[in-house]
Amino acid sequence: MGSSRSSHYLALKQIAKVSNSAFSLRKICNSIAKTTAKAMGANGCRVSLLDPQKEYLLTVGTHGLSDLYLRKGPLDAHKSLPEVLDGKVVVIPDATKDERVQHPKIAETQRVCSILGAPILEREEVIGEIRVYTREPHQFSEADKSFLTSVANISAVLLERAELHQLLEKGYRVNEEQAKLVQMPQLPTTSLRPTEFAHPSEEEFARLLDFYRIEWLYEPRSFPLRWKGGEIAEMFTPDFYLPELDLYVELTTLKQNLITEKNRKLRQLKELYPEIKIKLLSKGDFHKLLAKYGYSPLGEAKIEGVSRILYSHSQIQRRIRTLAKRISHDYAGQRLVMVGILKGVVCFLADLMQHLSLPVTVDFMAISYYGGDDGQVVKITKDLDSSITGQHVLMIEDIVDTGMTLNYVLGHLLAHNPASLRVCTLLDKGARRLTNVPLDYIGFEIPDEFVVGYGLDYKGEYRNLPFIGILRAELIKEDKL
Ligand code: IMP
Repeated sequence: MGSSRSSHYLALKQIAKVSNSAFSLRKICNSIAKTTAKAMGANGCRVSLLDPQKEYLLTVGTHGLSDLYLRKGPLDAHKSLPEVLDGKVVVIPDATKDERVQHPKIAETQRVCSILGAPILEREEVIGEIRVYTREPHQFSEADKSFLTSVANISAVLLERAELHQLLEKGYRVNEEQAKLVQMPQLPTTSLRPTEFAHPSEEEFARLLDFYRIEWLYEPRSFPLRWKGGEIAEMFTPDFYLPELDLYVELTTLKQNLITEKNRKLRQLKELYPEIKIKLLSKGDFHKLLAKYGYSPLGEAKIEGVSRILYSHSQIQRRIRTLAKRISHDYAGQRLVMVGILKGVVCFLADLMQHLSLPVTVDFMAISYYGGDDGQVVKITKDLDSSITGQHVLMIEDIVDTGMTLNYVLGHLLAHNPASLRVCTLLDKGARRLTNVPLDYIGFEIPDEFVVGYGLDYKGEYRNLPFIGILRAELIKEDKL
């Protein structure tokens, strides 16, 4: 076993070439895994992507790992080498004895011994990880770590590009199919996850879940149903797992003999694993299920006014967790007063504060605008309930546009002599800035478009949309006429 700088160089060359090919993302990731494992003299490699909630690691490419090892269930991101998700390269000398390894028993039977893991970072955010495995005890060198980090960097560009393609396609389709949007929109043909589905109905189901922004994992776990002489003789792999609902879903087909067989397996599964929630679903059942979990209405009439979804609920949540982590780190050991301006900030503030690991108090202000001689004038209609003198204050904003509102409010807050004053905004529309306001934490920089949803309104409406979308330009124009 061993690796050298020249094998690393040749591998990077190969990875760069395949990354630029027209192969499917899954094929490219499998190829990266293979080339990486070979170059490092390792027995296996896995490229995984974090789901937007940062709860699970989903395998997008593998080499040299058995089906059983891959099907041991989704890796829990918090339990499985959490240091990698903090952005660190991690070495596990012996997986069978290390408590950081989530499935040590399976690691033992699969003869996984040493592991080297590196984070896949998109700018500063961890979006996944790459791991190599060896069967014999192995000492990874500094060159190995640096090589794996380079592979992770290439993978990040690749994964971001795939996501971008999908978003572009989504935007285009939604515009094109505007008229149908209230009904069931034309959904993009590619899925955010580079999953290969066994059946077209499964892909359709995944797209429906995507549309409703429901997290899903495809065939994440196999349940042994029957054993023969200590060996597994029969397994059942449900089609989907929906983590938010903690529910497994098996799709039904029209063939009666298959339905009978599936029902038998399901009964057996329920007997053997009573704690598992599973449903056999037809298309009609699926719509009923959505209604039951409160997804169906989704303010459909309001979506009519949205020309394009800019950030999905999952993307917003992912970003909020990263911001919260940074804020918690920066204010460690201190108490924080979060100040929000009603009403646009309600969703953002509510979600952000739940992820702060600090003692926090919350206060709100309300303002109104009225037309002055030289443009709009800001007036405070509700001031803070408690004093902020000597306190660390974090001003939470939904969106900073011209910056005039924030400028005014910051002046007001500073007059109360806080110990410190910083700003966290979910959206930054920098193109329209008229005054220079300091923004310490920014969720997303957005183009010069009018956005609604996730607390943001147009004439008081659209605040309840669970995503951020661009308002149809015609609506604003019509109003200006
Ligand atoms: P300012 O121009 O930075 O003072 O922004 C003032 C306020 O205008 C924000 O706090 C929002 O309430 C609102 N606003 C600005 N741009 C948008 C938008 O794109 N959608 C919804 N509200 C917006």
